[in-house]
Amino acid sequence: SKSCIILGIETSCDDTGCAIVDSEGNILGEALHSQHLVHLNNGGIIPPIAQDLHRANIERVVNEAVQSSGIPFKEIDAIAATVKPGLPLSLMIGTKYSKYLCRKHDKPFMPIHHMEAHALTARMCDKSVEFPFLVLLISGGHCLVAVAERVDKFLLLGESLDDAPGEAFDKVARRMKLKNLPEYSKLSGGQAVELAARKADNPLAYKFTIPLQQYKNCNFSFSGIKNQLLLHLQREEILHDVPADRVIPGVYNLCAGFQIVVTRHICHRVQRAMEYAARKNLVPPDKQTLVVSGGAACNNFIKGGLKMVCDEYGYKIVRPPPKFCTDNGVMIAWNGVERFKENIGIYHDWEHIDVENS
Ligand code: KG4
Ligand code: ZN
Repeated sequence: SKSCIILGIETSCDDTGCAIVDSEGNILGEALHSQHLVHLNNGGIIPPIAQDLHRANIERVVNEAVQSSGIPFKEIDAIAATVKPGLPLSLMIGTKYSKYLCRKHDKPFMPIHHMEAHALTARMCDKSVEFPFLVLLISGGHCLVAVAERVDKFLLLGESLDDAPGEAFDKVARRMKLKNLPEYSKLSGGQAVELAARKADNPLAYKFTIPLQQYKNCNFSFSGIKNQLLLHLQREEILHDVPADRVIPGVYNLCAGFQIVVTRHICHRVQRAMEYAARKNLVPPDKQTLVVSGGAACNNFIKGGLKMVCDEYGYKIVRPPPKFCTDNGVMIAWNGVERFKENIGIYHDWEHIDVENS
């Protein structure tokens, strides 16, 4: 397969990322600007603000990645950028800036699907991951389980019917006011809940029920779990007469209970996916691999639960290091590499390619 050097740009949500990666998966240069703190203070992402911040940072981030690589533009084979799915206003900045670079340096453009990139990053981090493999993507915006059959072919087995898991973590963290505890003030909702849960003295203090247990498919649902938590929370706030800016006394146990039921639900759906994949012969019985990625895959408790399922079903679990689970430029550049090697999705005539929302 062809050797190449690809520059990748990610702006689908609230991270401005750029990286230069070669065909062997060496990261030659990278840079990332996170808007996390701004959105945390706003209580969520306001799309026009995210767009302004991408616009203000993209040039600096790209220059930083290019300069740290020491690679002259003439050695770069193509420019890859996320075009979907994501916030259209955010996607637009990365796509437009990439096209500007393509025009300026006379390079082909490679439109990238954000979820494909999350899934394929595992092949850069662990060279033993071969197609077909099972992949679970859990982030702030997405939740799906699929069979990755080829670079550009995924068979979707299930997805969330409502919230994504990271979104549920973010919403309950905000409602529990974890941000008012100094040690969690700068963390994402998911990180805050995971750390708070470790302090629980009775993780089963609050009762939760696992959603969709009666359904024999691989779909997910997180809004019901979120609502169960909110009910427990309201009840405690009233019983203990908790002031508006304070957390409830049982907050650590509540975090732990939430994290346990989220994990059990995810594990059940993944078990279903493994059984379905076996029945339909979608994965080779001797080389079964589960790739787990997306921001919520950083959660070590969830990873621990999935590891137990994998051990039981004879799967190897591959989770990229946390910095590659969350959004970054490296995954986009690597997705460009995977496509370039197979000669797919390389556009010399790219004017017509636009941001798509799906
Ligand atoms: O992949 P990502 O950077 O952006 C999206 O594409 O959504 O994921 C960000 C999400 C946030 O919702 C955040 O709360 C969640 O990932 N997250 C976690 C953890 N770390 C980040 N969720 C659960 N546990 C964690 N440790
Ligand atoms: Zn993502």
